[in-house]
Amino acid sequence: MIAGSTQVLGVIGDPVAHTASPAMHNAAIAALGLDYAYVAFHVRPQGLPAAIDGMRALGLAGLNVTVPHKVAVMDLVDEVAEEARVIGAVNTVAPIDGRLVGYNTDAYGVMESLRVQGGLEAMPPRVALLGAGGAARAVLYGLLQRPEIEQVLLLNRTVERAEALARDLDPGGKRVVVGPLTGPVADVGLLINSTSIGMHPHEDASPLPAGTVLGPHTTVLDIVYKPLQTRLLRQAEKAGAPALNGLGMLAYQGARSFEIWTGVKPPVEVMMQGILGGAA
Ligand code: ATR
Repeated sequence: MIAGSTQVLGVIGDPVAHTASPAMHNAAIAALGLDYAYVAFHVRPQGLPAAIDGMRALGLAGLNVTVPHKVAVMDLVDEVAEEARVIGAVNTVAPIDGRLVGYNTDAYGVMESLRVQGGLEAMPPRVALLGAGGAARAVLYGLLQRPEIEQVLLLNRTVERAEALARDLDPGGKRVVVGPLTGPVADVGLLINSTSIGMHPHEDASPLPAGTVLGPHTTVLDIVYKPLQTRLLRQAEKAGAPALNGLGMLAYQGARSFEIWTGVKPPVEVMMQGILGGAA
């Protein structure tokens, strides 16, 4: 029931109509019986400053920020949390004591999905990360927070982009090794795809070169969630390897945002059901 007391949460993006976030967050709100509602706002780039002013004026209880606003919004909030500053992108804005604070919950989302769904309480010493875009930045940040990871192989089609990302997040060059997407990944304990290869409508594509052999001891996470089972994940399953899609990362990053806004830990299973029902 939307009433006079209902607090408004939302997502700003361009485009935004196909986002699964309202279904995911409203499912949690309903399950918890909280007095909130979550909506999608189509905000074009030129409207972003006014949208953030509007957030203040309307007293919105929180916003998710998606493409193309994740970088530009950093200059419009009052404070940027450490992880968002290092990642270089904000995906969550919350009013804290009258000030707007920008957070990034993507690194938490990926690490929590690996822990809970992948059973990885400890990370393996060697990890391969495919991709060097915005998504890869958040994943690499999360990985480098974990001291048990000795080496991250950062593989990308455009090697220079991977080199720049490695310089940014691993300035001493101690733990990140850069290479092309065709680099060998046979002996890693965890392989994460953060490229868009294999995403709908290119469902026949895999980021791994033909002939790559995955071992049964390499957990594979594809952050793509449309489709839920990518070609890469089918390759992993064929090799007998644990295979995780991007649904968990999406739900856990959302759960973290939800907790920042409401102070309540939401039921992540319910959020996943919301995504599956809402995005169908
Ligand atoms: P996001 O914010 O989702 O990470 P992005 O910043 O555009 O999006 O990054 C997309 C990633 O997918 C990049 O690593 C990109 O490789 P390049 O840096 O070489 O462009 C990778 N990618 C996308 N399409 C690809 C393709 N057809 N082949 C190889 N890599 C691809």
